[in-house]
Amino acid sequence: MSLKRKILELKKRREQVLLGGGEKAIEKQVAMGKMTARDRVLAILDKDSFHEWDLFVEHDARDFDMDKKVLHGDGVIIGTGTVYGAPICIYAQDFTVAGGSLGYMHARKITKIMDHAMKLRVPIIGINDSGGARIQEGVNSLAGYGEIFFRNTQASGVIPQISVILGPCAGGAVYSPALTDFVFMVDNISKMFITGPEVIKTVLGEDISMEDLGGARVHSEITGNAHFFATSEKECFDQIKKLITFIPWNNARKALPFPPKKPKSKFKIDAIIPSDAKQPYDIRDVVRAVVDDSDFFEIQEYWAANIVIGFGRLNGETVGFICNQPMVLAGVLDVDSSDKAARFIRYCDSFSIPIVTLVDLPGYLPGVDQEHAGVIRHGAKMLYAYSEATIPKITLILRKAYGGGYIAMGSRHLRADFVYAWPGAEIAVMGPDGAANIIFKKEIAEAEDPEKMRKLKVKEYKEKFANPYVAAAKGYIDTVIEPNETRNVLLHAIEVSKDKTVYTPNKKHGIPPF
Ligand code: HXC
Repeated sequence: MSLKRKILELKKRREQVLLGGGEKAIEKQVAMGKMTARDRVLAILDKDSFHEWDLFVEHDARDFDMDKKVLHGDGVIIGTGTVYGAPICIYAQDFTVAGGSLGYMHARKITKIMDHAMKLRVPIIGINDSGGARIQEGVNSLAGYGEIFFRNTQASGVIPQISVILGPCAGGAVYSPALTDFVFMVDNISKMFITGPEVIKTVLGEDISMEDLGGARVHSEITGNAHFFATSEKECFDQIKKLITFIPWNNARKALPFPPKKPKSKFKIDAIIPSDAKQPYDIRDVVRAVVDDSDFFEIQEYWAANIVIGFGRLNGETVGFICNQPMVLAGVLDVDSSDKAARFIRYCDSFSIPIVTLVDLPGYLPGVDQEHAGVIRHGAKMLYAYSEATIPKITLILRKAYGGGYIAMGSRHLRADFVYAWPGAEIAVMGPDGAANIIFKKEIAEAEDPEKMRKLKVKEYKEKFANPYVAAAKGYIDTVIEPNETRNVLLHAIEVSKDKTVYTPNKKHGIPPF
């Protein structure tokens, strides 16, 4: 055969494979409001940057008449490309081919590109759209999942791992996204659950739709499994691309710097916090008032909103922000917010991203529900994560820092490198009202006018303890600053911390309160 004919044959083979599960299956996919796997990959990556691998891989199953079936690419697309020039490994399950189900060769393609990502030390993006383990391939498909989970764990903290759920992600399949760093979901398209509605109906007799069981809203607001919520695939892809600009390609690099930009003038840092200490405000406005271009990229926005986490830039460098949110539950720490913050601290620490902590909280949330939900164990995760982290840690106390919350929110005692406070900061074992009621209980009870005495004692306590100067006198706070000095102080702290070095005790690993 001449080379010309061989090239024609290649083209023909390519055309066949590029049709995935065929026109009908593609029509069904589109009718469900979903893009095809290949279109998704092309939409995420830079134009003309995708290089596909294993296009001609076929399954090798024999049982249940599988030997008579052709499954193009075995239901998954893999390859390399770039996002804003950053190298990326990517895979996308193709639901049009046997429901994107995971058989032996399908899993081998995924693990091949995962191994490649580890070797090249570049981020991996996995797009999930699958009916789960390919039933006809039995234990071989289960083995495939196990191989993926193992690699997810090995890659954790070495390269960024991004999961995108764009269809069903059922059964044990959910554990790969759960092991990765960031999970993206799209309203009405993404579904993630261990046991589906049919099993729930059979076992428990309960009727529930897939959306209500494990849709994007459920995982963004209730479970916290999703880090980003989008209303369309296009919005989701824009979020992924933006994330890539904030994070380094691997744990031996820093995120690429951006040209520095001043915050937008509409965010006036002096005017954000109300003078009444009980009034709420949006902590994100403080972040926007200090970061470059007022651009704050929030993560897990709708879950455990009493703590706010996300990325911003200071003088072009990526910084992770962890902030109490006075607008939600007065910014208390609880089970979910502790989990959210602790995991993010570990992410930033793994990828050399300095942390800025903004503190304004009345402490841990009291109550039987929290105690029984394990607030001791979950709260301890934050202490562990802050103490363990060796990246530059900068803490600013804006208003309240009471009780265990003061310690947990990146205090000097957990080895913050820089601790600042605004003049209105109140640092104490508890709020002035509660404290006065306890320590002056007798004086208040015996006073002629107990209410007058109580107010007097609250004032006395406030003047003595609820200010930043007691902590500053002990050196627990390095400097008390004016709010409008904040950005300069943070820029300086980042600038002088570039070569921070910490020697940690020699151990295999610690035992965090998982
Ligand atoms: C083989 C599968 C499949 C699977 C779907 N298909 N899931 N083939 N193994 N797991 C095939 C269908 O037979 C069909 O093939 C095509 O994909 C499209 O599926 P439909 O059912 O027509 O699509 P739809 O109506 O949109 O429903 C999608 C679905 C449903 C909700 C995902 O297919 C479904 O419930 N599938 C099974 C989900 C599941 O329970 N998986 C196992 C989970 S256990 P044809 O040829 O007709 O087009 C698991 C264990 C892993 O994953 C453990 C790891 C630790």
